[in-house]
Amino acid sequence: MQYAGRMTSAETIERTDAFLTTVGGEWWRTAVIYQIYPRSFADASGDGIGDLPGITSHLDDLAHLGIDAIWLSPFQRSPQKDAGYDVSDYCDVDPLFGTLADFDDMLAAAHERSIRVIVDLVPNHSSDQHEWFQQALAAAPHSTERARYMFRDGKGENGELPPNNWESVFGGPAWTRVVEADGEPGQWYLHLFDSSQPDFDWSNEEVREEFRRILRFWLDRGVDGFRVDVAHGLVKAEGLPDYIPNPEAGSMGGEAENVPYWGQDAVHEVYRDWRRILEEYQGDRALAAEAWLPTAARTAEWVRHDEMHQAFNFPYLETKWNAADLREVIEVSLHAFPGVGAPSTWVLSNHDVVRHASRLALTAENPQGHGIGPDSPGQPIPEVGLARARAATTLMLALPGSAYLYQGEELGLPEVIDIPGDARQDPTWFRTNGERYGRDGCRVPIPWNADAPAYGFNATGASWLPQPAEWATLARDAQTGVEGSTLELYRALLAERRARSLGAGSLEWIDGYGTDAVAFRNGNVTVIANTGSTPIALPGGIVIASSGPVADGELPGDTTVWIETA
Ligand code: GLC
Repeated sequence: MQYAGRMTSAETIERTDAFLTTVGGEWWRTAVIYQIYPRSFADASGDGIGDLPGITSHLDDLAHLGIDAIWLSPFQRSPQKDAGYDVSDYCDVDPLFGTLADFDDMLAAAHERSIRVIVDLVPNHSSDQHEWFQQALAAAPHSTERARYMFRDGKGENGELPPNNWESVFGGPAWTRVVEADGEPGQWYLHLFDSSQPDFDWSNEEVREEFRRILRFWLDRGVDGFRVDVAHGLVKAEGLPDYIPNPEAGSMGGEAENVPYWGQDAVHEVYRDWRRILEEYQGDRALAAEAWLPTAARTAEWVRHDEMHQAFNFPYLETKWNAADLREVIEVSLHAFPGVGAPSTWVLSNHDVVRHASRLALTAENPQGHGIGPDSPGQPIPEVGLARARAATTLMLALPGSAYLYQGEELGLPEVIDIPGDARQDPTWFRTNGERYGRDGCRVPIPWNADAPAYGFNATGASWLPQPAEWATLARDAQTGVEGSTLELYRALLAERRARSLGAGSLEWIDGYGTDAVAFRNGNVTVIANTGSTPIALPGGIVIASSGPVADGELPGDTTVWIETA
């Protein structure tokens, strides 16, 4: 599956057809999928924001890394109030990122390299600049235009109180009151996120039909699937009852049951419908759910045989660097997902969470989405974080199923903690008046070349978020071919994982390495992770990969090793 040299267009077409129709039946069961956050990946235009031509120009680097697929966070037309998760036209590319032709070129170039492409789909809400929402604002209360969104009359004598007590994931109320055509305050609309992101009403058939059209638009262009944003949120509980927030609940619903806007049963019919659409298409297209649910067992409801193909395993991402907890979440995941016929997925980082090279060394609680800044409690020690991140990834990539990587983690990038307040852009920062830092720290443009402007992110040196001075040593060119670098560790792990078909393998637990160890066998590979600080005596065999130095038959703390056993 590795790309070897440039091909002529005739060869390309032949190879691409063969790749899409015959290679890798149900590729998503074992794929390593690399998340590209387009605005921070590579910037060909030089305006400080990454773009599609930037992605195309670096596909060889991704082929060299050894991934199977890429997932692109939104690049569709958007006022960028939430970095593209506020879409104003679902069937066009935002000029910041290029054009539809740039998208087609990128897709073809990825397929040439046998890299599949899945794109983000944001169905819970649109931008307030979407033409439907603009029509809704101009129309009267209770009109068909308003019925595409969640408009409601307010409570109180003059409708001056919001329809219920729901709060936005980004902080503050989840309702905003509009001014009607007569200049008077009028109805309220629901936005589970920013006020610029009004929620659609998924009980409305017109909304459902519009999304069928959008799916087909991208499937016709040749995408291999979709990552579905907020896939647990589309349907709200009948009557929109008040919710008494559960102190255990993450804002996306991670820990809490019975939140009236997360995980409602009726949402599953939407995905059954979409699955049928994907199956109309040739090839092997996949749907992946971003659904923050309390357990892997609940998450597995999104991937029953007639629904989505994959769901992000957020219970795994949220697990601390602790052997007992890791063993449990792996065990539960490997029952829950295969139990409904789906692969388990594994993920440690994405554009919404503190990068795992920092998160795994935090010593204070840090709820998802809050981020870290200079005065946050429990600051991570960088060396500890990096060692744990490398060990955690070495553990993850040995697990059967499909794994997600987030751009920059292969360079060992930490969370950027000291972004100045006036440079921050996450709506969370604004909606909480700086009380929560938000997610900018994991979104800083990634370094390619140690000595170039903006570390090779572009040629001009512009960058939409400032890049830290220490990143020169983490740049891709500073790590390429360097033994022991995080990049070379990722490359080695991905190559071995592929050569030994670990994604399609199975897990057999091994006892006897103590309470700090996560130890198992997958095929002929024995994997041992030491989450503690006391060295663990290793069994005999050839060390084929190791997240850190291993000497004298001992596995140091915060280190994971792969050993070939007979
Ligand atoms: C998802 C996205 C996040 C976005 C939110 C609203 O959680 O991953 O980045 O802010 O949805 O669309």
